[in-house]
Amino acid sequence: MNRTDPTGLGHIDRHAARVSVDDKAMINARADVNQLLPLKYKWAWEKYLAGCNNHWMPTEVSMQADIALWKSPEGLTADERLMIKRNLGFFATSESLVANNIVLAVYRHLTNPECRQYLLRQAFEEAVHTHTFEYVCESLGLDEGELFNMYREVPSITDKAAWALEYTRHLEDPSFRTGTPERDQAFLRDLVAFYVVFEGMWFYTGFAQILSLGRRNKMVGIAEQYQYILRDESIHLNFGIDTINQIKIENPHLWTPAFQEEIRRMLAEACELEIAYGRDTLPHGMLGLNAGLCEKYMRFVTNRRCVQIGLTPVFAVTENPFPWMSEMMDLKKEKNFFETRVIEYQSGGALTWD
Ligand SMILES: [Fe+2]
Ligand SMILES: [Fe+2]
Repeated sequence: MNRTDPTGLGHIDRHAARVSVDDKAMINARADVNQLLPLKYKWAWEKYLAGCNNHWMPTEVSMQADIALWKSPEGLTADERLMIKRNLGFFATSESLVANNIVLAVYRHLTNPECRQYLLRQAFEEAVHTHTFEYVCESLGLDEGELFNMYREVPSITDKAAWALEYTRHLEDPSFRTGTPERDQAFLRDLVAFYVVFEGMWFYTGFAQILSLGRRNKMVGIAEQYQYILRDESIHLNFGIDTINQIKIENPHLWTPAFQEEIRRMLAEACELEIAYGRDTLPHGMLGLNAGLCEKYMRFVTNRRCVQIGLTPVFAVTENPFPWMSEMMDLKKEKNFFETRVIEYQSGGALTWD
């Protein structure tokens, strides 16, 4: 393989020396990207294995209780129905946006085979998540046009998708290549926009909203599916954070004070977009959940994401208004939290929550 070829699809160099671990790098690598071994980034391989251990399909979750509740006129209030629909509407297309970004933008520029192995697993998981929203839509008899067009028709959802797309558009240009500080920073911005913001901030309001309903025994099928999605997404997020931090270690010249400030501004902006979406999903609030609490939660999550990628938090110290979500915020605890559920899932049982 031509050792300067980043795709893995170039000419094979018949006389090249064997790949050593030291040749491997996250971006702009000269080592053959078709050779998984020798492994360099064990964290990426471990996430691939963890993803495989968490395999699930949405159709294995019973929707009977949800269908009965949704179809009963007194089953849910108008506010609860609005929240559920806007929540589903946001996720229904977001899973595809995230998948397209992985496949068409991130994969080409991440020049490490163990990271690509994880991206292939993640891409499949995003397909499973999109399948979930197709399955929920069909089970509840929702208007598919309304659900899948929300990202164009509900301004607070459009604003979020449009914000993220700004960061991926030029990356999926076939002529885009990493290799200069400006272009490597553009790649980092895309990783932040999709892994830290989209999957790491914006998904978490949605999880909190549906899991909060589930805790009150409403829409328990969807809530169970969201728990599986959250388990997957927590690994996606942590893969993104490890990837960003590893690129920083290998390319410290990219992480300038000005660039750090720019990333902090991105996270602050993304937080405000989420707060606006929270108001749209919860105009009046309901038992245990309202837009004010979602705002507090998003500021808490934003600060946490800053720390995870080595930035000073954007907001003054904030407390977590959903302490029951807090144990799901950190991979190590998440693993423990889900440990028993994984076993239950593998033996055909259902998820439960406290
Ligand atoms: Fe997903
Ligand atoms: Fe994801």
